Amino acid sequence: MSNQRTATLTIDGQTTEFPIMGGTVGPEVVDIRSMYGKTGMFTYDTGYLSTASCKSSITYIDGDKGELWYRGYPIEQLAEHCDFLDVCYLLKNSELPTAAEKTEYVSQIKRHTLVHEQLARFYAGFRRDAHPMAIMAGVVGALSAFYHDGMDISDQAHRDISINRLIAKMPTITAMAYKYSVGQPFMYPRNDLSYAGNFMYMMFGTPCEEYKPNPVLEKALDRILTLHADHEQNASTSTVRLAGSSGANPYAVIAAGIACLWGPAHGGANEACLQMLEEIGDVSRVPEYIKRAKDKNDSFKLMGFGHRVYKNFDPRAKLMRQTCYEVLTELGLENDRLFKLAMELERIALEDEYFIEKKLYPNVDFYSGIVQKALGIPTSMFTCIFALARTIGWITQWNEMITDSEYKIGRPRQLYVGPNRRDVKPVEQR
Ligand code: SDX
Repeated sequence: MSNQRTATLTIDGQTTEFPIMGGTVGPEVVDIRSMYGKTGMFTYDTGYLSTASCKSSITYIDGDKGELWYRGYPIEQLAEHCDFLDVCYLLKNSELPTAAEKTEYVSQIKRHTLVHEQLARFYAGFRRDAHPMAIMAGVVGALSAFYHDGMDISDQAHRDISINRLIAKMPTITAMAYKYSVGQPFMYPRNDLSYAGNFMYMMFGTPCEEYKPNPVLEKALDRILTLHADHEQNASTSTVRLAGSSGANPYAVIAAGIACLWGPAHGGANEACLQMLEEIGDVSRVPEYIKRAKDKNDSFKLMGFGHRVYKNFDPRAKLMRQTCYEVLTELGLENDRLFKLAMELERIALEDEYFIEKKLYPNVDFYSGIVQKALGIPTSMFTCIFALARTIGWITQWNEMITDSEYKIGRPRQLYVGPNRRDVKPVEQR
């Protein structure tokens, strides 16, 4: 008698058993890969509310407990004790680096911070007022033209160098998108600075004078990158996995992830959240917007609230609020109008029965816009910073998929609701 637990599906009196699979922790799954072959039916799950698309050992989220772990380490501990390159190393290699491994890893990354001089010419093809996410999607996709020949994704060494190139070049490409938008010269990376410090230098430094990153702000930016590094099978990561499942060039696959992240329901929410706070303008108008958010006939949603998985506080939002307060205090902006408005909006929303019933809590995007604005990052760049941070998550999930023995091209099916078979009539009879 096998002790394999199964789920039984009965259709028109016919029963079929499907094995139940369990992981380390979290919901078990019913393995329905044989279902179409056994029953001639598909499952139906638009939005993938109840679908596990893969096995993964990278990130675990418990939406009810508000927990987020990277390779088993709680995000709170990583944000406190590690920097972003520690987290990049951890996500890629499953373990935190020793001191020697970290030194070697940092020098590997610093070997790739420059972009090809011809890549800089791509920026000139964009209007100066182009959205930086449009530029990021274009330029990162263009990297595939520089590293395509000889790319063998079945070769771990080729995958490793692609991963290191992306981690190293994303800050350079992102900062160049900003510099292009403000008509300032591109700044070459400085390998004597930290990852976050170098990014701030390339964003805010100019050839005219020395730029030294404020260490408090540098640490805050590094923490923002850590908080956004990976998040299980979210929309953009699933995009990367599906695009990569065809064997596509990894740089082009990351460009697909950038495109998906841009949407306001996903990574674009931080930009939309700040725009919403600016539109609300004053605490006295909060009830009006809470009312709109609850109105079924109004498409308005409270940006930065709600989450598919977190039905309790997004642990990243708590850490982001703390970072927000540290940055505003460092800059003498404790009474920042938007921060006070955001805290009042959070307080009112969390007391409202609609938000309680729908389990809508602030997510990572609620405070990240305020922190980034305080850091001097323009609103249009917020999602670019998210993409910069999430690149390590995307590319390690891609790497995990490519090395999965069960890996095959993703090809969902559908419930067809279109016209039945019919014949073309001569045009005079249509
Ligand atoms: C990110 O998946 C990830 O992990 C994403 C992310 C990551 O790190 O990769 O965490 C990053 O994308 C965070 C989410 C950022 N987006 C926003 O802040 C945009 C505002 N939030 C909503 O668009 C929404 O909450 C989603 C998209 C985030 C989640 O949507 P779901 O889970 O599909 O839930 P839903 O839209 O079906 O909402 C459930 C109910 C609905 O009401 P009913 O149809 O049940 O009556 O809650 C309501 C929604 O109308 N609702 C909101 C709301 N969010 C959901 N109502 C008002 N304001 C909101 N923000």
